[in-house]
Amino acid sequence: MTRESAFSFSIDQLSKHLERAERILFVTGAGISAESGLPTYRGIGGLYEDRHCNDEVPIEVALSGAMFQQRPEVTWRYILELERTCRGARHNQAHELIARFERHFEVCVLTQNVDGFHRDAGSSDVIEIHGNLKHLQCTRCGHGQEVVNYEHLDRLPPLCDECGGVIRPRVVLFGEWLPEPGVERFRDKLEQGFDLMVSVGTSALFPYIMDPFVAAKSSGTPTVEINPAETDLSSLVDFRLPTIASDALARLWRLIDT
Ligand code: OAD
Repeated sequence: MTRESAFSFSIDQLSKHLERAERILFVTGAGISAESGLPTYRGIGGLYEDRHCNDEVPIEVALSGAMFQQRPEVTWRYILELERTCRGARHNQAHELIARFERHFEVCVLTQNVDGFHRDAGSSDVIEIHGNLKHLQCTRCGHGQEVVNYEHLDRLPPLCDECGGVIRPRVVLFGEWLPEPGVERFRDKLEQGFDLMVSVGTSALFPYIMDPFVAAKSSGTPTVEINPAETDLSSLVDFRLPTIASDALARLWRLIDT
């Protein structure tokens, strides 16, 4: 079977599952925002590729909770760099298509991305399991603020207007726990069950991303991976669509919107 005919076969099979499906889970990662011009984390041109930050520590160290406690300005320099890569970028067709799926299905999106694009595109049930760069919070008094970007931050680390404490974005740094409300919501959703689970643009390295797909396998829930490259998930899923997110999602959308 050629790659294209394997692809068409997967799409045909998926059409049967989509006909019966009511609840769909999309699990997304940096790859879905690649078409918005954002870099991914791993792979060629990825943020982690052979990179040490200016402070001569590996990125994982600079972006860790421990570093933020000791030297928040180091972590902030890197956060600022991350935020600059998102500045001016916006959601793309892949985010829009996922939002559009809500016309036909109950859709939950679990994203590892901190760019906020799923909500911007109109998805209504989004769990941002790694947080969102646009939500800032004071580490001392808890005062929170929503920002469009970080252009206004004129000192690092930025300090709270209310109490002078160090401000941080509400994102998960290396070595930190996932936000409990998001974890609980996701657990509840998984307990309610899905009729189809779709991974889009993630290397699926973390157990909390991989495990639900492993569980789906044993419960017989059909699973899909949309990713031009192979990942640890590739051999596990029922259907692999080895193409970019907007292309695969557009083909799925055409199956249901006829
Ligand atoms: P990665 O950079 O690990 O993986 C991105 C995946 O997207 C790769 O498998 C690519 O092949 C795929 N990809 C690239 N372009 C694509 C496209 N146009 N369409 C579809 N797929 C495409 O990013 P994540 O899996 O999101 O966590 O990384 C997970 C977490 O690791 C991030 O949230 C971040 C990082 O440490 C934190 O910062 C806590």
